[in-house]
Amino acid sequence: MRADPHSHADLDQARTLELDLDLVVDFAQRVLHGTATLVFAEPVAGAVDLDSRSLAIEAVSDADGRSVPFEVGATDPVLGERLRLELPVPTDRIAIRYRTSPAATGLMWLSPAQTDGGVHPFVLSQCQAIHARSLVPLQDTPRARITYTARITVPGFASVVMSAAPGTIEPGADGSRAFRFAMPQPIPPYLLALAAGDLASRDLGPRCRVFAEPGVVESAAWEFADVERMLASAEELFGPYPWDRYDFIVLPPSFPLGGMENPRMTFLTPTLLAGDRSLVGVLAHELAHSWTGNLVTNATNEDFWLNEGWTVWAERRILERLYGSEEAAQQAVLGRMTLDQTLADREAEGASTALTYAQAGLDPDHEFSQVPYEKGFLLLVALERAVGRARFDRFVQDYIAHFRFQSIDTDTFVAFLRHTLPEAAPVDLTPWLQQPGLPDDAPAYRSERLDTLEEAARQGEIPDGRAWSATEKLVYLSHLPAEVDAFAVADHLGIDPESPNAELRSAWLTLAVRSGAQGLEAPLRSMLSSVGRTKLLKPVVKAMVARDDLRPLARELFDANRSRLHSSTRGALESVLAQARPPRP
Ligand code: BES
Ligand code: ZN
Repeated sequence: MRADPHSHADLDQARTLELDLDLVVDFAQRVLHGTATLVFAEPVAGAVDLDSRSLAIEAVSDADGRSVPFEVGATDPVLGERLRLELPVPTDRIAIRYRTSPAATGLMWLSPAQTDGGVHPFVLSQCQAIHARSLVPLQDTPRARITYTARITVPGFASVVMSAAPGTIEPGADGSRAFRFAMPQPIPPYLLALAAGDLASRDLGPRCRVFAEPGVVESAAWEFADVERMLASAEELFGPYPWDRYDFIVLPPSFPLGGMENPRMTFLTPTLLAGDRSLVGVLAHELAHSWTGNLVTNATNEDFWLNEGWTVWAERRILERLYGSEEAAQQAVLGRMTLDQTLADREAEGASTALTYAQAGLDPDHEFSQVPYEKGFLLLVALERAVGRARFDRFVQDYIAHFRFQSIDTDTFVAFLRHTLPEAAPVDLTPWLQQPGLPDDAPAYRSERLDTLEEAARQGEIPDGRAWSATEKLVYLSHLPAEVDAFAVADHLGIDPESPNAELRSAWLTLAVRSGAQGLEAPLRSMLSSVGRTKLLKPVVKAMVARDDLRPLARELFDANRSRLHSSTRGALESVLAQARPPRP
């Protein structure tokens, strides 16, 4: 079995099966502190290596309460610190008393001003790919699947959600409350998740509930009202939903992603609240991960395409069922546009564009790109087209059923494919998995509607597009020539700086900056000071640093906002800012 290049864990030393957390959330110090108990598959003695990152380890004891010597290794910039335990006698459980650092890369501590309510602080986690180790010392590799229980103590104003089933809430003497959780199904550690703050919730159906700050929950409930129908479509594709409830939370705007598939509690950005349900594809995507990712999981980050390629494929099938084949095709066209851009960018950087490649020494946050998503999607479509949809759909169900609750690598997928779907043999996998770019016979998607808009954009035409869908506007915007009159475009498309669709705002701002337009400081300030989603910030900042007159503003706004950004977003923006050529003298 290939080792995980992103973990210090050695599963031959020990295998963690269960985790119990008893933690206090200290908003003033911005730390979690308490005890993590790890239960191994069988008693072990001697060295056991765990992953940790900027944790303060206070004491370690074994099942009999005997103190366990431990050593925190040197910091590796990618992996963090190895925590080596030396178990004096065989034991099947260890308790670690510890505290997190205020700089924990997997946690975001938001001040009241960074929330919608403006009164109370907020904390949220984002652990994929290797940030769980900054919350809890553990074997932080997706192959070490664990069940978990937790007791999280917070001040009276706060409620807690986790990627787990909620249990009882116990009032404490000092006005605090302790929230209990249990995740009875084994998950990879990157799916550990927690958020705490002033939360409200609304039921959207028998299995789904939305959580958000009180001032946001109504609009969130409206935007995602289709969730039960999505769940029903996903079950038709993949089989019964295996995680009991599907709840989700709309977080404050600093959340770095569109969405994160934390089981039983998807995390979403509030930038999806466009007021017209145009961005619900992200919810379909996170829901689909309940099967592809959470149930069948990538063994290491080198197999990340198995999570995301499959999930994009599933997302588009769900959208097709709910909103028709034109909608699904448009999403695929948009995806191909992003892929072509990503392939060009990564090739220019000398980065790999194969679906799987060695990642030892590489930071998963840095390797993140649309390649595993969109190239992975196209590979699966190539397989689907080779055998026909009905046959492929049966294969998908077999695949999920065969590998449920396992973490698999690409070779395992290929062996299963060749054995279970021999009719797909004509598809040569080597160019997809091992080689750069796209094979010449990669599946293509077309939408006549989008072709027309693309052509109009290329000609620099600015028609009245107020009635277009958000996808249509996005495709049109990205094909306009650089020297276009950006304000005329905004006018004709009905995009304004207050426009609730943040994806459109980001795409328009990027275009406007590139076009050399003046008078952009106010909308740029507002975007860079409110949104935390990397995908929306990065293209805008990239366009800004290419302009001598806006480069200082990009730096200023980044410095002013870095404390409310996730470590991965900070890293992405820092590298964009570093690529900027200094202004010519
Ligand atoms: N699991 C990913 C987010 C992620 C990937 C976090 C890698 C950390 C490391 C999530 O499912 C995702 O793909 N989100 C997308 C939305 C989607 C519709 C493509 C996003 O946030 O943009
Ligand atoms: Zn995903």
